[in-house]
Amino acid sequence: MAVLKHDVLVIGAGLAGMRAAIEAARNGANVALLSKLHPMRSHSGAAQGGINAALSEDDSWETHAFDTVKGSDYLADQDAVEILAREAPSDIIELERMGTTFSRQEDGKIALRPFGGAGFARTCFVGDITGQAILHVVYEQVLKLGVTVYEEYFCTSLIVDDGVVRGAVALPMVTGNLVPVQARATVIATGGLGRVYLPTTNAIACTGDGMAIAYWAGAPLQDMEFMQFHPTTLKDSGVLMTEGARGEGGYLLNKDGERFMSKYAPQKLELASRDVVSRAEQTEIDEGRGVDGCMLLDVRHLGEAKINERLWQIRELAIDLANTDMVYEPVKVRPGAHYSMGGIKTDVDGASPLPGLFAAGECANVSVHGANRLGGNSLLETVVFGRRAGAAAARYAQETPDGRSLSEAVLQQDLERISSLMERSRSGERPAVLRRELGEMMRADVGIFRTGEGLESALRKVLELKERYQRVQLQDTGKVFNIDLISVLEQGFMLNIAHVMVAGALAREESRGAHTRRDFPDRDDEKWLKHTLAHCTSEGPRLEYAPVTTTRWQPEVRTY
Ligand code: FUM
Repeated sequence: MAVLKHDVLVIGAGLAGMRAAIEAARNGANVALLSKLHPMRSHSGAAQGGINAALSEDDSWETHAFDTVKGSDYLADQDAVEILAREAPSDIIELERMGTTFSRQEDGKIALRPFGGAGFARTCFVGDITGQAILHVVYEQVLKLGVTVYEEYFCTSLIVDDGVVRGAVALPMVTGNLVPVQARATVIATGGLGRVYLPTTNAIACTGDGMAIAYWAGAPLQDMEFMQFHPTTLKDSGVLMTEGARGEGGYLLNKDGERFMSKYAPQKLELASRDVVSRAEQTEIDEGRGVDGCMLLDVRHLGEAKINERLWQIRELAIDLANTDMVYEPVKVRPGAHYSMGGIKTDVDGASPLPGLFAAGECANVSVHGANRLGGNSLLETVVFGRRAGAAAARYAQETPDGRSLSEAVLQQDLERISSLMERSRSGERPAVLRRELGEMMRADVGIFRTGEGLESALRKVLELKERYQRVQLQDTGKVFNIDLISVLEQGFMLNIAHVMVAGALAREESRGAHTRRDFPDRDDEKWLKHTLAHCTSEGPRLEYAPVTTTRWQPEVRTY
């Protein structure tokens, strides 16, 4: 059996994965970067509006940290937030030195735009293609450092030996033959799970793969009930219209032309935190002040020159997908599933409780976002904690002996899983139907506003879909680029992840950040200022709770 061997294996080649790979390679490790996509097609490339760092003279890392903690509705671990905010400026300078073409002020300094929930303008950007621009320069570094890239390799499970993670099993899509990739340290950086919802801003590939394989291997998932709904996504397609549009001065209007945010967030208006703005929009829509089930995003007053300089991508997206030119008319937007605050529990160096396993980026929960992430902090998290995870994984690999060589047994379970799918009758369930039903149910029952009744119904639906998944069938039984098989495997990941999200949301009887229970409308610090940890069992998730780390900022009433 051919076994691929490396010191450090990074699964996922978006910004967190590539930043981890770079740092591990800089620390002398033999590194492999494995992804089901070409790295440049990673979803980090869809990040539009920017990356936060306290760079202006009147701003400080402490203010950035406080805004982040307040934005998190006090659920973030403050030691991790302090690291995020403190290390941000040097990571931005490094990205610039790698070649990121940040937009500039007149005096040549990096331009900063205000983002939601921030006390100062602290979001650095490249127009509205910030993720794409950074992805390019980071990929150049990966190639320069000689990292081995396994692209279009789909990871099916982790290899766990005596409770220690020693790599992963992967399916090269071009051959369809499973291969073990042995590693002393493994970093998961596979991004988010947005496709559990329909519609979503997330790419088709965002199916929670890394979270699911880590969970199956025994790593706990933390705070999975917290899903962010971005306030401005296009009607129907759900495509992102960056918060940068509001940062540059755009308005949100209801059907009466009213800037309705003045009722919900009198100080910050459109630049309140995302949970606040999305709830406000949904309330306006539910109370009959929407336009076609949407709000209006109006940037006309910014003028064509500024729109073309700062917001050219979303202008094009709105023309192509909504037949609306934002220079001349407002565009219809509504809240859409965007970002998972929850993920694989890690410490501040990316280490999960499972020895040998590290995680970074959206699939991880370190936890810097708590119950609600601030815009611009996710790209920042990928570079700060990707870097730290890569360094820690390289250190761990150096200290860890090579171990036994792997036997055929490590592949057996995945081989059997795939052959049993291939051999099934052709008359079972189709994965696309399960995907659609899951996505629609999650939007309806595990959305912006939740109730115990809706969540009970969501739980029944997830269990029903899991049962029907046992009869899912493939139409393509070939080996080469079997996208049908990949889709079925992804569906298995998504159902398990949705189960964890629903269980956590049902148990959490309070409203905090993005988790709003109509039947428990208040935040309850006495009972619920704690993290949810979900462990995998054969009966579904087993929940336990862990304290939040509070270093400087005691919970306060949160207003914007
Ligand atoms: O609105 C945006 O550009 C998204 C940014 C983010 O999610 O951080």
